Amino acid sequence: MITGVAGFLGSHLADRLLARGHSVIGYDNLITGRLVNLAHLAGHPHFHFVQQDVTEHLFVPGPVDYVWHFASPASPIDYLELPIQTLKVGSLGTLNALGLAKAKNARFLLTSTSEIYGDPHVHPQPESYWGNVNTIGPRGCYDESKRFAELAPGVPLQVETISGFAKPMNWKKDEFWVPFPNYRDTAAFKGWVEFTKKGKAIPSFKAPEGPGKKDAEIAYQKGELERSTQWLRQHTA
Ligand SMILES: NC(=O)c1ccc[n+]([C@@H]2O[C@H](COP(=O)([O-])OP(=O)(O)OC[C@H]3O[C@@H](n4cnc5c(N)ncnc54)[C@H](O)[C@@H]3O)[C@@H](O)[C@H]2O)c1
Repeated sequence: MITGVAGFLGSHLADRLLARGHSVIGYDNLITGRLVNLAHLAGHPHFHFVQQDVTEHLFVPGPVDYVWHFASPASPIDYLELPIQTLKVGSLGTLNALGLAKAKNARFLLTSTSEIYGDPHVHPQPESYWGNVNTIGPRGCYDESKRFAELAPGVPLQVETISGFAKPMNWKKDEFWVPFPNYRDTAAFKGWVEFTKKGKAIPSFKAPEGPGKKDAEIAYQKGELERSTQWLRQHTA
């Protein structure tokens, strides 16, 4: 089961799992995702799409082995426009997805973000670092929703599933030459494409909300999803 299946990572994950012979049920309310990302799966015998907000109760008939909780606005442009929805999906949506994982005895994976460290004093950040977050800053809705989401499996919900976090790094492209229809942070992206075309190192860039440098690692979705699937496989009894 994938939440946020109509988004960038969710739709690629659905392809990946289906190609490996799994059945996939995907939830999405299309707040930032697009049906066109799933159009090629229409009629697929092992893919079922449910258009639903995951902050509402999730009812999935039958067994579920894995819950991949990807639903959340992810681009700064999106979550700055959608702060309440971002907070809700990270909190209520995560509790619902975890509740489903618990009920189904499924493995649970959350896509968190390096944004949970805020403006970190430590580079690179180990998991033991608590971060330096402005809770009321412009990005607080995203940072805090993910911080809540990371906490949720650990609080006395006693979720007896194996749960884990993935922190995909900050980029959304698999193949640079195919424009992804929902991607809106185009300015930095175009600049980076030019650098890669010329074989130059990609520079640091400025965070959109103010001065200061922000270092980012660019990762291919294939690598991120492979690491996530490996982690889940390793932790499957
Ligand atoms: N892409 C990255 O570089 C990156 C980096 C770090 C973390 N992440 C995390 O990975 C996940 C997926 O990112 P993405 O790049 O695919 O983003 P995306 O915006 O392309 O996809 C997110 C999907 O979640 C859906 N969604 C949002 N709120 C929902 C709700 N309440 N109910 C149902 N569906 C909802 C959206 O409609 C969208 O289809 C997000 O949780 C994001 O925070 C992504």
